[in-house]
Amino acid sequence: MTRRICVAIAGAGIGKAHILGYAQLPHLFDVRYVCDLNPERAAAGAAEAPGSRPISDLDAVLADPQVELVDLCLPPRLHAPMTLKALAAGKHVVCEKPLAGSLADVSEIRDAAAQFDRQVFPIFQYRYGAGYHAAHALKRKGLLGRPFVLSLETHWDRRADYYAERWRGTWEGELGGALVSHAIHAHNLVAHLAGEITEVAAFIDTRVNPIETEDCAALSMRTREGALVSSSISLGACGSTSRFRALFEHMTITSGTEPYHIGSGPWTFEARDPARQAEVDAIVAEHDQGIFRFAGQFADVHARLTGGAEFYLPSLDEAYQSIELITALYDAARNRRIVSLPLPSDHPLRKGWLPA
Ligand SMILES: NC(=O)c1ccc[n+]([C@@H]2O[C@H](COP(=O)([O-])OP(=O)(O)OC[C@H]3O[C@@H](n4cnc5c(N)ncnc54)[C@H](O)[C@@H]3O)[C@@H](O)[C@H]2O)c1
Repeated sequence: MTRRICVAIAGAGIGKAHILGYAQLPHLFDVRYVCDLNPERAAAGAAEAPGSRPISDLDAVLADPQVELVDLCLPPRLHAPMTLKALAAGKHVVCEKPLAGSLADVSEIRDAAAQFDRQVFPIFQYRYGAGYHAAHALKRKGLLGRPFVLSLETHWDRRADYYAERWRGTWEGELGGALVSHAIHAHNLVAHLAGEITEVAAFIDTRVNPIETEDCAALSMRTREGALVSSSISLGACGSTSRFRALFEHMTITSGTEPYHIGSGPWTFEARDPARQAEVDAIVAEHDQGIFRFAGQFADVHARLTGGAEFYLPSLDEAYQSIELITALYDAARNRRIVSLPLPSDHPLRKGWLPA
């Protein structure tokens, strides 16, 4: 019989969407606590998870031996310290992005996970959607060929109401701007589908909102498989969309534009050879149904912790790479140079990119 994993969610902003994800998997997870310093948010979150308790004290959650997994949906500056604390308390950890504000912090998390024999699962929910599943299946079957170029748009609408939450838009609270908080998902898809990013050049600016951190960027990148990647980022769009277009040797893939669900449909898959289109369409149709978004990733977490069959769970190494990419992008923009990855262990921004 499947073992249910006892989970506590900390932070009930986007944490509420995580709660709904666990609610889709009642046979896999038992949500025991919804923890938030704001009692109304804790109560509203707990109301979505039958049998759970609202609570404000994260230390009390960590002290409960029944809790096996802690899901951190806290403001970014708390991710690394709370992950370390939860690991030391013997918990596995799901953590929202960004996992940390420096490569040094991710390395410390990696060491702590090994020391306490626990696992850390960074959230990259864009991976879990019908369109992206189909794209990756076509890659695994060798039907895409070499990646030529990828074009990404993270064009969101973020104004004063968004920045009313005080941690947002600040280096200390958010650890960065749109590179760290918004485009991180699309950049993870690039590495997963077309190879790790090996070179970057970047223009980064604050043009839309009166904030400390960046809200616009134009990035150029190259991947290990040779793909040339353009990533256009702005929080000044009229309406929010994300888009992912990938030109491979044998196929052109275009994602949907739903900002929080870019992994889902409708994606289009256009084969170069019309004779293969029917085969491609059949593979795409096979991936139309499934458990998507946060629930998809949580199902994979459950599989990992219980020895079940995983799909393609984002790893701690991928979180490291995502933080390494952000480090390289800030370096490239500030010093107006092309930066190669992986970064050397003595890179000057290894302990963080926050301005002095
Ligand atoms: N994966 C995604 O698509 C996605 C979407 C939105 C936000 N996020 C990320 O999720 C994280 C949270 O973002 P948000 O928009 O929900 O922020 P938020 O500020 O709306 O929610 C954070 C909550 O944490 C609570 N909190 C703060 N410190 C706490 C503590 N010590 N103990 C218990 N509760 C505490 C706050 O009261 C608040 O309710 C951020 O890192 C953000 O980047 C990810």
